[in-house]
Amino acid sequence: MKTLRIKLLSLLTLSLALLLTGCERPPMDSVQHGYRGTGMVQVINPRTVEAQADNNAAPFALPQAPADGPKASQVYKNVQVLGGLSSGQFTRLMVSMASWIAPKEGCIYCHNPANFAEDSKYTKVVARRMIQMTQHINADWTQHVADTGVTCYTCHRGNNIPKEIWFKRDSTPAGANFIGDKSGQNEPAPSVGLSSLPNDPFTPFLLGAEGIRVGGVTALPNGNRHSIKQAEWTYGLMTHMSASLGVNCTYCHNTRSFSSWEGNPPQRATAWYGIRMVRDLNTQYLEPLLGTFPHERLGETGDVAKVYCATCHQGANKPLYGAKMAKDYPELQTVPAVQTAEKSIKVAKR
Ligand code: HEC
Ligand code: HEC
Ligand code: HEC
Ligand code: HEC
Repeated sequence: MKTLRIKLLSLLTLSLALLLTGCERPPMDSVQHGYRGTGMVQVINPRTVEAQADNNAAPFALPQAPADGPKASQVYKNVQVLGGLSSGQFTRLMVSMASWIAPKEGCIYCHNPANFAEDSKYTKVVARRMIQMTQHINADWTQHVADTGVTCYTCHRGNNIPKEIWFKRDSTPAGANFIGDKSGQNEPAPSVGLSSLPNDPFTPFLLGAEGIRVGGVTALPNGNRHSIKQAEWTYGLMTHMSASLGVNCTYCHNTRSFSSWEGNPPQRATAWYGIRMVRDLNTQYLEPLLGTFPHERLGETGDVAKVYCATCHQGANKPLYGAKMAKDYPELQTVPAVQTAEKSIKVAKR
């Protein structure tokens, strides 16, 4: 009798311990969230926030340079985007860019030191397009980035290549199993929080513009493709969005109904614009750079690196915890007039 009781007790302790391994250690913080009366609360782990603090600290901005004096377009030979800056402002931005993208290599990461004007390094050609992309984000996507905006640092954070990028997955590699195309399922990938959901929900939703839905709006069949499989793609993307922002589903949804917009926190609308912005960046800026990047920068299917939510957010609900870094770089906030007229500069092909 006694041994049985001991056995039962140890079994109970063991199962409790197993149950709790999935939990985070208290204490937790909680903040009221969502509209009044919806009773929505976000639980935040202060230790996760603290661990992320270093990665999310904005660097110091250099003091502003005088705006007078000759323009960069008059001083230099091959300035296609930043010509309207004074040469002091131009140099300040170059020094800042070097510290954001190539702190180890410095100017020569993009320049031939013997001739700063030539475009012989692909990195310089890419950087020019990135300057235009940053201006476009800040000027035309305020529904998402508000007046917080972005700089090169938001994505790069001192790295040549941003830490968080994605490539298309080859979902039918040679030797795939008898199911054939598994839609990238049952291959737990960090991109979808190590779940067995389709591990590339980005190609259809953040490059293509497939509907992000679980339920159809028309009765079957009528071209209604909404199936469990389609829903799994949607959940794959949602898992990425939650993980990228370090939040739970309830940051954007009122779980009373995931599809209804009524009673949802305003963050869901911000996220909706974010999805459109990311599609725009991938199709208008990154993909057209395909011929510019060298082979070793391409993915396994030969595509360019692309942006998703984690590229900017990196685990924070607002990148750099909302530090308004862009205001110190007014030249990255607006699209210069000449550029709007020409629409965009031709991207050099290698
Ligand atoms: C991340 C890439 C990158 C880095 C790093 C960089 N530059 Fe540049 N630089 C560019 C781009 C792009 C242009 C062209 C801008 C344009 O077309 O408006 C440019 C243009 C220039 C020009 C004008 C040359 C001419 O005659 O047309 C000078 C001078 C210059 N950079 C100096 C520097 C210095 C000094 C540093 C280091 C402190 C530096 N750059 C670091 C990308 C970079
Ligand atoms: C929205 C995110 C984002 C912003 C903002 C951004 N970049 Fe990038 N950048 C990327 C991605 C994605 C790549 C592709 C990664 C790769 O090189 O494979 C990239 C690549 C580059 C490269 C090529 C690096 C290499 O070694 O291949 C340079 C240079 C660069 N960016 C410069 C800049 C500059 C300068 C700015 C600011 C004016 C900037 N970027 C802003 C996302 C961003
Ligand atoms: C950062 C905000 C955000 C987070 C976090 C988020 N969602 Fe979403 N969710 C959205 C947006 C925006 C849409 C609509 C997308 C569109 O229409 O382009 C959506 C759509 C959906 C849909 C489709 C609804 C329909 O109309 O069929 C489901 C289901 C869903 N989310 C579930 C989840 C789940 C489960 C989680 C947590 C794992 C989650 N979401 C996390 C913003 C979010
Ligand atoms: C180019 C960088 C960038 C990318 C990519 C990006 N965001 Fe954001 N996002 C921002 C900035 C900057 C803010 C802060 C805006 C502000 O201060 O209100 C923000 C704010 C948000 C907010 C509001 C947070 C809050 O607490 O109010 C949500 C939600 C959000 N982003 C979701 C997304 C989702 C989902 C994606 C991917 C589909 C995404 N973002 C991609 C830059 C980005």
